[in-house]
Amino acid sequence: MRIYMDTLISKFKDLVGQTVTVKGWAYNVRSSGSIAFLQLRDGSGFTQAVVAKPNVDEASWNAAVDTTIESSVIVTGTVSKHPKQEGVYELQATQVVLVQKAEEYPIGKKEHGPEFLLDNRHLWLRAPSQWAVQRVRDRIIHAIYDWMRDHDFLKIDSPIFTPNACEGTTELFEVNYFEDRKAYLTQSGQLYLEAAIASVGRCFDFGPVFRAEKSKTRRHLTEFWMMDAEAAFVEHEENLKIQEQLIEFVVKRVLEDCQEELKILERNVEPLKKVQAPFERLTHAEAIKILRDKGSDIGDMDDLGADDETTLTQMYEKPIFIEKYPAEVKAFYMKRDPADPTRVLNADLLAPEGYGEVIGGSQREDDYEVLLARVREHKLPEKEFQWYLDLRKYGSVPHSGFGVGLERLVAWICGLHHVRETIPFPRLMNRLEP
Ligand code: 4AD
Ligand code: MG
Repeated sequence: MRIYMDTLISKFKDLVGQTVTVKGWAYNVRSSGSIAFLQLRDGSGFTQAVVAKPNVDEASWNAAVDTTIESSVIVTGTVSKHPKQEGVYELQATQVVLVQKAEEYPIGKKEHGPEFLLDNRHLWLRAPSQWAVQRVRDRIIHAIYDWMRDHDFLKIDSPIFTPNACEGTTELFEVNYFEDRKAYLTQSGQLYLEAAIASVGRCFDFGPVFRAEKSKTRRHLTEFWMMDAEAAFVEHEENLKIQEQLIEFVVKRVLEDCQEELKILERNVEPLKKVQAPFERLTHAEAIKILRDKGSDIGDMDDLGADDETTLTQMYEKPIFIEKYPAEVKAFYMKRDPADPTRVLNADLLAPEGYGEVIGGSQREDDYEVLLARVREHKLPEKEFQWYLDLRKYGSVPHSGFGVGLERLVAWICGLHHVRETIPFPRLMNRLEP
């Protein structure tokens, strides 16, 4: 008989009849008479160890009955098929070692409110639902890296301390950068990627970004992860094609690789199966007309609010690009639409089922004089933007890019109401702990 050291529960289906050792935690325990059941979790999956008093020595039996919820344990035993449930495997224990006996666990089986769970986020992360969310998040991150690399985008790391704003000056976290300087935490690496494309052609970054918006909605975090992509000689139309292919790929990858996780989350996968390019497209003007026909009093040149996005996404099964927003509601760097200079060559990608914006992207202004005028109009500090303006002086090219909000993507794909569950330790307006 082969002994496997530290076998992963996820490998059980290939190990029926073999003796294995599992190291993990007991997320539930029950015993009656001479039998104890330890529900085990080891990070890779979940299983039940059956501890029958006659099959183990006295020390193991005492350890099994002494095990409390969330105690850490090492259990050796034989892998067996569950007598009734197909595809479920158990461990017939021959030895139990209690590594640390847990104190009474604060998260019980009764329903807890979100604030209690968030206060105990360091423990809540262990719940099967949270395990599943983090596994899907990991899969999405890897899928994005894979797709970007397969499509010749090079990873370029942009800085987190920055001297200037990227997405509007009202949403900046300011930090003291030594005695005499202020720095800001980055809102997006985009501007730096625009510099890098003249070196590497196509690139992306993937890191934490910071927004000091005083928003307490289900879509807002103050710290979140963004993948910015940027490509030289790519114009508006091609920019959208890149985005829809990337998202189609990511969703497909999760559907293939995370079936167990999606089941734990009770995610209906039917809508996800419909996420196939080409996506729906509406211009901002068309979207406004639809919203007005539905009774909204939204103005012609207004930005879309969260409720407007929800309304639109509920009308279609696929994600929707909303193109060509009024220039006045968007960032200074977006290129104007030559067909209508009041609008920009941008698109927001709205995820279906009420989720709303998951990507913001645009073609960038590539003319020095026009961009300088925008910097001035937006009252941005010209000196701090000189390097960015330089890019329009030395081999300027048409170029485009976009930013994917990782947490919004995870929330949509997992079917979660609020983004706070999608990041291990959420940072919200009213929450910096744990
Ligand atoms: O639309 P945004 O602000 O675009 C940019 O920052 C561009 N510079 C990106 C680029 O072109 N490279 O942000 C991009 C995405 C949004 O579509 C949304 O998914 C997410 O980032 N996002 C947030 N996610 C969570 N909390 C917030 N406060 C967010 N703000 C934006
Ligand atoms: Mg946006």
